[in-house]
Amino acid sequence: MRKTFVPLVSLVIAATIGVLPILTSAQSTEPPKVKIDFEKEIVPIVKASCLGCHNKDNAKHNVMFPDKMTLEDAKKNARLWSRSGREVKNKQMPPRDHATLSDKDRTKFVTWVEATFPRPARPPVPPAPPTTGGGTGGN
Ligand code: HEC
Repeated sequence: MRKTFVPLVSLVIAATIGVLPILTSAQSTEPPKVKIDFEKEIVPIVKASCLGCHNKDNAKHNVMFPDKMTLEDAKKNARLWSRSGREVKNKQMPPRDHATLSDKDRTKFVTWVEATFPRPARPPVPPAPPTTGGGTGGN
């Protein structure tokens, strides 16, 4: 009994350790290294949840996804995808009365967008401190 129990525990530990780097890498400051296949994983999400309202015949709010989405095209369309990532992250899209997006797919979509179009971290700009003195700082 005991003998079979021990390997089982170590297996669980090994599995946990295997998962750890994935979990911790999400919190590191490096851009997450995700392996999400655009055409296999992202395109189906867009087709199922977005395309109906954002296609060339019906481009709500001037947001349009092409019929045929390729990674090449997507990369040239950073604005579209970054905006979409933001909307999806904030749960603005798809519209609430049309919620066809699972949390899993939402996370996947946002993760892909953020990994593909990383933006420099922009901390909120604090109000400018009053400039003291007429220093030599040039203009
Ligand atoms: C049921 C129709 C519908 C679906 C489905 C839908 N959208 Fe939209 N989308 C709209 C409408 C309407 C607007 C403009 C009004 C608004 O912002 O609510 C919009 C606006 C947007 C905008 C522009 C927001 C801005 O203010 O810049 C983006 C980006 C967007 N959608 C992306 C998506 C993505 C990505 C999906 C899929 C995950 C999606 N939409 C699914 C109807 C839809």
